Amino acid sequence: MGKTILEVKDLTTKYITRFREDVYAVDHVSLSLEEGKSLGIAGESGCGKSTLALSLMGYYFPPLHYVSGEIIIDGKNISKMDPDTIRKNILGKEIAYIPQAAMNALNPTQRIISFIEDVIHAHYPEMSRKEIYESARKRFEELNLSPAVLEKYPVELSGGMKQRTVIAISTILSPKVLIADEPSSALDVTSQKMVIRMLKNLMEKGYIKSMIFITHELPLLYNVTDDIMVMYAGQIVEKSTAKDMIFDPIHPYSKGLMGSIIVPEAGARNTKLTAIPGTPPNLKKPPAGCRFAERCKYAFNECKANAVGLKDFDEGRSYRCLIDSARLREVYKNEQQ
Ligand SMILES: Nc1ncnc2c1ncn2[C@@H]1O[C@H](COP(=O)(O)OP(=O)(O)O)[C@@H](O)[C@H]1O
Ligand SMILES: [Mg+2]
Repeated sequence: MGKTILEVKDLTTKYITRFREDVYAVDHVSLSLEEGKSLGIAGESGCGKSTLALSLMGYYFPPLHYVSGEIIIDGKNISKMDPDTIRKNILGKEIAYIPQAAMNALNPTQRIISFIEDVIHAHYPEMSRKEIYESARKRFEELNLSPAVLEKYPVELSGGMKQRTVIAISTILSPKVLIADEPSSALDVTSQKMVIRMLKNLMEKGYIKSMIFITHELPLLYNVTDDIMVMYAGQIVEKSTAKDMIFDPIHPYSKGLMGSIIVPEAGARNTKLTAIPGTPPNLKKPPAGCRFAERCKYAFNECKANAVGLKDFDEGRSYRCLIDSARLREVYKNEQQ
């Protein structure tokens, strides 16, 4: 086993709304990430993926609040650190986050190089502008981005180029963990592929030591991450290797996210994705039993009455469902025929 870079133990966080309601958007989540490994997090919009990302960076600003659990990044327990220390010593350096739609949030009046100067200067005030430029130029070349981009303004770049530039800026300090939140969702297929190739390149060259890739499209993670975690209503519902999750999803929600899509292989054509009927539950009043029961075509009375925890099955896999994994496999197999 490799060195553990990120360890999240039983993390729970909540929003407190203006009406003083609690919204537990991250509910007892545990995960761990080893050096050189990547984790995909998939789930529909509103399942808590972005909140989990903010939570595991220790980014707690109202209305988001820490409730319980631990976050350990390369041996440092950041769950007990104050926000100022986190901002100065952790963000960007230990862990970097690329928010959803980050590329559209770049200040239009700044050249790309000046974003990089800001980031580097905050951590290495002794570096000269010339040194910063030189290191940025080298990094861009290593990542197959033209150094000419450094002199440009955000509006001069295409969507795909802008997104790859944002990734290069966010990882300029070589963070141990990179969290990319829907990094390819707004892009065309060619640009998506280039973004994914760049993220892999960052890992291979050792500029980042581990990665979390968030998406609402589970099938997109095929050949992208080592492991996958599926989230539903603030909870993990299934965890396994990417290969197992995509070719043999067990939880009815994971199965639903895979829909009837055929993973692209030579000669195979994608069939249409069947959406799961219904919507995720309101987290202000989550259901007492299984949170997916309302939408699950296999649910029986007990599912709605009793909450179910994560259970291990097979080698290194886990899922949250009352129905036996062998039974679910059998049901899925029969449905295919
Ligand atoms: N500022 C907020 N105040 C209250 N609830 C919020 C806030 N932001 C998000 N939520 C709720 O938290 C849940 C998870 O949201 P989010 O983490 O953005 O999901 P995802 O990234 O998977 O789409 C949703 O149910 C959403 O309504
Ligand atoms: Mg999100």
